[in-house]
Amino acid sequence: MSQRDQDSDAPVGVATEDWTPNDGPDPLIRRAKHGLIGTPVSRLDGAFKVAGEARFAAEFVPEGMLYAALAHSTIATGRITDIDTSAAEAAPGVSLVMTYRNAPRMPAPALFMTQPKGVAGSSLPVMQDDSIHWSGEPIAVVLADTQEQATHAASLVRARYDSQPPQSLDEAKADLEVPGNLAGEPPELEIGDAEAALAAAPHSVDERYSTPRHSHNAIELHTVTLAWDDDDLYLHDASQSVTGTAWTIAQCFEIDETQVHVTSPYVGGGFGGKTLWSHHILAAAAARIAERPVRLTLSREGVYRIVGWRSPTEQRVAIGAQADGRFDAIIHTGLSVRTAHNALAEPFSLPARHLYATGSLKVTQRVAKLPTVANTFMRAPGEAVGSFGLESAIDELAELLGMDPVELRIRNEPQRDPVSGEPFSERNLVKAYRDGAERFGWAERPERPGSRRDGEWLIGMGCATGMFPYFRFGGAAARITLNRVGHATVEVPALEMGMGTVTTQSLITADRLGLPLERVTVAHGDSAFPGVMLAGGSAQTASVAGAIIAAHHALVTELLALVGDDSPLTGLTVEEIGSRDGGLCDLADPQRWESYTSLLERAGRDELTVVASAAEPKEREARSMQSYGAVFCEVRVNAITGETRVERVVGSYDCGRILNPKTALSQFRGGIIMGLGLALMEETQFDERTARIMNPSLSEYHMPVHMDVPRIEVIWTDIPDPYTPMGARGIGEIGIVGVGAAVANAVYNATGRRVRDLPITLDKLL
Ligand code: MOS
Repeated sequence: MSQRDQDSDAPVGVATEDWTPNDGPDPLIRRAKHGLIGTPVSRLDGAFKVAGEARFAAEFVPEGMLYAALAHSTIATGRITDIDTSAAEAAPGVSLVMTYRNAPRMPAPALFMTQPKGVAGSSLPVMQDDSIHWSGEPIAVVLADTQEQATHAASLVRARYDSQPPQSLDEAKADLEVPGNLAGEPPELEIGDAEAALAAAPHSVDERYSTPRHSHNAIELHTVTLAWDDDDLYLHDASQSVTGTAWTIAQCFEIDETQVHVTSPYVGGGFGGKTLWSHHILAAAAARIAERPVRLTLSREGVYRIVGWRSPTEQRVAIGAQADGRFDAIIHTGLSVRTAHNALAEPFSLPARHLYATGSLKVTQRVAKLPTVANTFMRAPGEAVGSFGLESAIDELAELLGMDPVELRIRNEPQRDPVSGEPFSERNLVKAYRDGAERFGWAERPERPGSRRDGEWLIGMGCATGMFPYFRFGGAAARITLNRVGHATVEVPALEMGMGTVTTQSLITADRLGLPLERVTVAHGDSAFPGVMLAGGSAQTASVAGAIIAAHHALVTELLALVGDDSPLTGLTVEEIGSRDGGLCDLADPQRWESYTSLLERAGRDELTVVASAAEPKEREARSMQSYGAVFCEVRVNAITGETRVERVVGSYDCGRILNPKTALSQFRGGIIMGLGLALMEETQFDERTARIMNPSLSEYHMPVHMDVPRIEVIWTDIPDPYTPMGARGIGEIGIVGVGAAVANAVYNATGRRVRDLPITLDKLL
């Protein structure tokens, strides 16, 4: 086992593990900081992208391609009584105007999580009749020779409606529903009698918190370029799941999933929004009628109208505590909104279930149904907004008790999962808090709110906890081809949305095969590659790594079958083999070594290809697995204008091993910046009278720009999780979680004003 010890001075060989997370803790993991794992490596595709050589979905130009544009409904509920397409049809360059009248009849798309490979954000049938279900629903697709012609012609489509006034949220509250499961957890649960414990507790807080709608705003617009070839459909997509998109579209056109070929090698941000929406189906249907390739790029406004958003939430958080701070009761209840055709109830109550020891617990989520775009996955769905309520309430309780909020949290650190009673796979949140507090200088926090001032500016500090569940997806597989030069090509249908997936998976492959980084290629973003994959749930790294580990084992097994009688490796079993320096070695005696080139030459092979599937993800069955974070920030609030400026942020994370510190740092920072937007500015303005989004543009939907982003420091525990592939838990989404409350708590510390309704705009501080 010492072969993976980085301190060993013997030539290091990486063991060919057949360990899976289902076999118990990885016996080698604590020494597995090895080779490139844990060293900061720049994105391998960085220069390629900066040079403009990486082709995104809207940069493919098939021969004879037509450009598409959508016309959108201006009412939310009702029917189209008349639709006049004659002016659009007569406009220059127009080939086709498709409405419900001439669209092909298609089954409804398979909603995400209702089928193993379904990735549609909504199960509403697309353009099948005259009914209207939300303001912005596509009512016509125009195909033309240029984008400008298509966009202009779409503006000429005239519809008349028989419309009913949309319900308001208050009206919809009369008819609340219990959602299905929340990311695998029950929508309601009670341990003990939490209301009674709250009433009996000597100290308590019981408050209402609310968060607004948020819209997706990836820099790359949602886009698809596609072409039919007989009954085969070829798509270049901006996607978070090429395999899911292929399957889901195949169902809509009643063809086999192998007839849909999706590539998406580069994606300009996804954040949960780049699943399958109506524009995919409309583009494919129109292309079929026109018998021409089609590109449909949503306009920025189109993204707001077509793609799902994050629901508003209304939350109640109540905590009852003893004088020493120990929690007798935690109650986190409330509602979110969704449509009749989607299932995601923003799971805001997850943090309350896993973060604190408590004598009793009650969580209940309800959903109101409204005629809007679907509620969809967005940047830590649930946790990002749920942690605002929970972690604000903890701060309010700390104030009431006269306790330091860091100490209050540490005092309620659970030994086992508060709901399941299961052990944690690995949890070092207290260490993250202590390290973060030290790095931040938490001891300098003004104890009394509103007590520190620099001219017009009131200064305050706040903190909050973040968490995000660990997931690994089933069905992951990888194909590895090793050639005689000793170059390994990995093929996985994973997605590179800019976060560094290719780089990190290249590190993992190089590490396991004992190859230099330049001898590894990770090919991705193609539905033809084996297995199923989704870039979401902060789960892609572990999911792909599990498949690469399995494929590595299969590769070494195959190589050993080729060695014959006169190799230094003759007679060794797979478990006795390690990889180093471009070949295989005897783990017990690393000098017994043969290069991959020699092994393949000896066998007369130019290359060797293996495919293997990752072990099914059962590691969460017996233990509680989350990523954790402690967020600290300092704000200045202008006493005259109410303007809040975040001065600095420290994020301290416990997410298992950090595989590539450079790309990880960007992930955490990006999440924190999104958290600053959530805290201070992001809000989809929604007119309840018309159920229409009123600020569908980047000029009116405010997000942090460079001037809003302060110095952000990120540290991590880097303690491997022995139950995950490579010891890593997810880092993709946790950065945003906790930031809203950390800012709100700092604003309170600066001003003595408690804002319980996001975003914290200046009007709320005057
Ligand atoms: Mo993430 S919201 O699962 O892309």
